[in-house]
Amino acid sequence: AELRLWGGRFTGASDPLMDLYNASLPYDQKMYEADLEGTKVYTEGLEKLKLLTKDELSEIHRGLEIIKGEWASNSFVEKAGDEDIHTANERRLGEIIGRNISGKVHTGRSRNDQVATDMRIYVRENLKKMSEILKSFIETIINRAEQEIDVLMPGYTHLQRAQPIRWSHWLSMYATYFTEDYDRLQQIIERTNKSPLGAGALAGHPYGIDREYLAQGLGFNSVIGNSLVAVSDRDFVVETLFWSTLFMNHISRLSEDMIIYSTGEFGFLKLADAYSTGSSLMPQKKNPDSLELLRGKSGRVFGSLSGFLMSIKSIPSTYNKDMQEDKEPLFDALTTVEHSILIATGVVSTLSINADKMEEALTMDMLATDLADYLVRKGVPFRETHHISGECVRKAEELALSGIDKLSLEQFQAIDERFNADVTDVFDFEVSVERRDATGGTAKSAVLKQLATLRTALN
Ligand code: ARG
Repeated sequence: AELRLWGGRFTGASDPLMDLYNASLPYDQKMYEADLEGTKVYTEGLEKLKLLTKDELSEIHRGLEIIKGEWASNSFVEKAGDEDIHTANERRLGEIIGRNISGKVHTGRSRNDQVATDMRIYVRENLKKMSEILKSFIETIINRAEQEIDVLMPGYTHLQRAQPIRWSHWLSMYATYFTEDYDRLQQIIERTNKSPLGAGALAGHPYGIDREYLAQGLGFNSVIGNSLVAVSDRDFVVETLFWSTLFMNHISRLSEDMIIYSTGEFGFLKLADAYSTGSSLMPQKKNPDSLELLRGKSGRVFGSLSGFLMSIKSIPSTYNKDMQEDKEPLFDALTTVEHSILIATGVVSTLSINADKMEEALTMDMLATDLADYLVRKGVPFRETHHISGECVRKAEELALSGIDKLSLEQFQAIDERFNADVTDVFDFEVSVERRDATGGTAKSAVLKQLATLRTALN
């Protein structure tokens, strides 16, 4: 028991299995930098209160630097009794600068405000990094969309061919989803970036520490205004996991589309070898494993969110050890999402499209709406034109024609006498696409405008 920081009131030894069960050091050492930074600024606060001398403070800072170097070079030696990153760093500090001084750093502080501080710094820094790689992923999509603006493809509802759209319009859809994710991420960073430090175990600081000073020193935007909230709030973790889940959902839908588009049956796109794998048995196979993993890993990230929410749903206020269960799901989700963005960026920037295949997949029945619109332009109510166009589709089917465009003018006029010779103008995919030039539509000008707006939103 004397090994432990809190050993004073204990006489019995702990079960070694309990030590393992309790320990978070194997995974929370990821936060070593945030932990050392927190102690650095916290001890400055103590010095301002004259709870440390200037000399003691500089000794502490010297020790913290050494420890940082040890973690960075993988030479930090863990010892029995190192429960978590906080106890490990404090124990090591004592070995370097002597326990007489290191024994003062935790004055007025608790691991409860300490761990909340570390976690918020860690999340903030990781989300900032995420933000950068997400931005370049979105830019990759936008660049591609601008370059391939002329390519048309079928747009689908219910996975049935619906209306012709630009390939770039489809890309712009995902760029829009991801830009919303980007925006949401900035909001989460903002809400995460508040300081719990100086809240103590739960009740507040007994020496009147300057919490604004601590917050500023650690790059926080503000101080959490209630000490009980400061130590017990993990909503920033939940939000990060929710964000990760929603983002992975978008990635999963993108992947599913691309898996379908890359089948032999569709043939719209081909993944680069770098993101495909072969079969151990069938020599001809080239499988879209990258996309399947992106789709599959969305389940894993959702598991992190739901698991952690269950862990904390009924815990009483304020700190409870259940909260230590925030780390593994968070770290796993952050790593998974980061890797997924990088892989998705690679896939999107290296795939090749087959514009001919996309255009071959356009069929004349996809212009049935345009045929109805043709009569609308001649003053016929849409509900009526919808019906008339439907009859044309049925007639063409009956006559086993390859499409509605193959009906003769006489056949059109037999269905409705308001059809004229200019009805043939309807049967042009490019014209159909270019008509949809209202904001958000698939006309070239409308898509280019969407892409430009997204670029602005990112800057
Ligand atoms: N390792 C702990 C965690 O991650 C640190 C906080 C421990 N506090 C306590 N009162 N036991 O939550």
